[in-house]
Amino acid sequence: MAYISIDGVRIAYDDVGSGPPVLLLHGYPFNRSLWLEQVTALAQTCRVITLDFRGHGQSESSPGPTTMERLAQDVALLLDSLAVSKAVIGGISMGGYVTLSFYRHFRDRVSSLLLVDTRAQADTEEGKQVRANQIQTIRAEGMAPIVDAMLPKLLHPETVSKRPELVKRIREMMLRTAPEGAIAALEGMAIRSDQSDLLREVTVPTLIIAGRDDPIAPVTDSERMHHAISDSRLVVIDKAAHLSNVERVEEFNQAVTRFLDLSPGR
Ligand code: MLT
Repeated sequence: MAYISIDGVRIAYDDVGSGPPVLLLHGYPFNRSLWLEQVTALAQTCRVITLDFRGHGQSESSPGPTTMERLAQDVALLLDSLAVSKAVIGGISMGGYVTLSFYRHFRDRVSSLLLVDTRAQADTEEGKQVRANQIQTIRAEGMAPIVDAMLPKLLHPETVSKRPELVKRIREMMLRTAPEGAIAALEGMAIRSDQSDLLREVTVPTLIIAGRDDPIAPVTDSERMHHAISDSRLVVIDKAAHLSNVERVEEFNQAVTRFLDLSPGR
């Protein structure tokens, strides 16, 4: 693990393997260890970079809202510091919102895109209200009630019943997120822009992956992105909810490695 300081905020990251650079962005309220199984697999042939977003994992928090643009800027500065001019950029859920923001602002630095269990639309008014309520809960009671309410939506019922060690890992990962970091991210997601208009401008190869039973970013959101991005393919993974990359590692990694083999720059 290493750190970079961005406007006085310490950001933790890993830079593993060698080959074409692949940068993977985690969701809320997780950290870069969410990509453990992908880093292990991809680092055999690629340079895999993961970071903890500010306010998550081992990175420091900064006053909110943590906008998707701010996080995209952090990614660009990390790539600068690592002398990486262009990379495959991939993100799950909030990481996907940041991936689209990164594409909007730094498209010449993107060789291909990976959009996982995410969507292009902004929050609805109802969604914003849910986030406001969650912020109040975190202020009053910390992360535990939020984590317990989220867990059943993150993992498929079969995962919950058959893989208690994975449930524990995910729960503990979320509980480690600093309350102030989670609040700042919720504020940032609530004010994020709709990126739907950007999709038709995406010219790089794009892999979209969705868990068939994801209640947070339903498959229809992925289908929309697939229809709008001309050079895209969509893979829907069965028996997976919102965290398809940890629930169905084999299918997920196979889809990604197949896609990367076909992308330019390999
Ligand atoms: C995530 O997994 O990053 C979040 O569920 C995204 C969101 O709350 O919109």
